Amino acid sequence: MNSPLHPLAIPTLAAGSAVGQVGASSGHGSNWVHPLLEERAAPGCGRGAFATSGIERGALLVVYGGRILGQEELESLSPEMQGYPYQVEEGLFLGPRDELDIGIGERLNHSCEPNAGFSGPIHVIALRAIQAGEQVTIDYATCVAGDLDAFRMECACGAESCRGTITGEDWRLPAVQRRLLGNFQPFLQRKAREQAALRRARCLRPLARLGRAVAAIAAWAVRFVSQSCREDWGAAVVSCMAAMASNLATCFIMEAAAPRILNLGVAQGAGQEIALIAAVTPLVGYATYLAAYYGGMVWRERRDFIRLGAVIPRAFRRKLKVIGCDLLAHLPSDLIVLPILGAAQGSLAVAGASQFWAIFWAQLLADCAYAWKEPLFWHGAKRFVAWRERAGSNVRP
Ligand SMILES: C[S@@+](CC[C@H](N)C(=O)[O-])C[C@H]1O[C@@H](n2cnc3c(N)ncnc32)[C@H](O)[C@@H]1O
Ligand SMILES: [Zn+2]
Repeated sequence: MNSPLHPLAIPTLAAGSAVGQVGASSGHGSNWVHPLLEERAAPGCGRGAFATSGIERGALLVVYGGRILGQEELESLSPEMQGYPYQVEEGLFLGPRDELDIGIGERLNHSCEPNAGFSGPIHVIALRAIQAGEQVTIDYATCVAGDLDAFRMECACGAESCRGTITGEDWRLPAVQRRLLGNFQPFLQRKAREQAALRRARCLRPLARLGRAVAAIAAWAVRFVSQSCREDWGAAVVSCMAAMASNLATCFIMEAAAPRILNLGVAQGAGQEIALIAAVTPLVGYATYLAAYYGGMVWRERRDFIRLGAVIPRAFRRKLKVIGCDLLAHLPSDLIVLPILGAAQGSLAVAGASQFWAIFWAQLLADCAYAWKEPLFWHGAKRFVAWRERAGSNVRP
């Protein structure tokens, strides 16, 4: 939970007021403090901790002692004393035992471009080399997790990237986390990481949902294909056999019908005649194929609707429904394939192949492409009819 209080941000602490007096007793307090640190007035910020000589990057600057306070205990302190404890856990604060205990460690002011930061719950280290005379500062976002109202301080750090107003919500700022997350109080690091993980999980949720949907569809497709190949593999065989029969039939029909079609006088010249034959042939091929294929499938599955030598009308009607659905499922692809077939036959004929062979090869090519998907279509049509029956929309009383 966020602290409703303002550790480090009591207005009376500003500009060397009451704290200045307390500062009279400053020393190390309960803390261990780097020997090259001293307390001095910090313009605009009351008192501050300063380096008396150069300090190298990574040097340990303060190890805090003091007293662990709960929320209520903290609130019971005088407003002046409430400004010193900093947060070490949710609802727990570490601060001086009393006014006499305020040391150089308590004088660390905030800067939006700090040169020091936490390396543990009670350790402050130099984040870069600190020059002699430079003030040692930390970013209060690293140890204050109040909410907007609980902690608010007008910043006088003077840094180029100064945030202006420092609040208890600053630890959430991405720019602050990018620069200083490793120097946050450990509990606040945990909190920031949990928050980031939550944000990531929230972002990934739609993606995960999409992934699950895609996986479910893929699994269904694999199941459907394997079931179709297992249960209705015969459709591919019937398709191939029907294709051969239909090819031959189409060739013979067209051989016989072509002169009559051309005699009708619809086409003028060789080009139009080829185009006309190329347009009629796939239609004849389609009709002969459908007749051969559905005839073959009905024959193959005759046991579904013939019992003891008699046709069961209801079961036969069901088979016709399967044929209807299968045909409907084919139509979109057929509408694409037929013109291609026509064009192929036309160009084969133009290329000099005899009409018979032009038709034969074009049909064979299309039939091979067709055969592999027949089990899927047929199986799908059967499943669809069964589903409609189960749903009751197709069942007659
Ligand atoms: C933990 S004390 C730091 C030492 C304090 N300056 C003193 O004199 O005791 C925190 C208080 O210092 C003051 N302070 C720290 N950093 C500041 C900043 N960047 N701008 C303005 N005031 C600041 C605020 O009054 C804040 O409540
Ligand atoms: Zn600032």
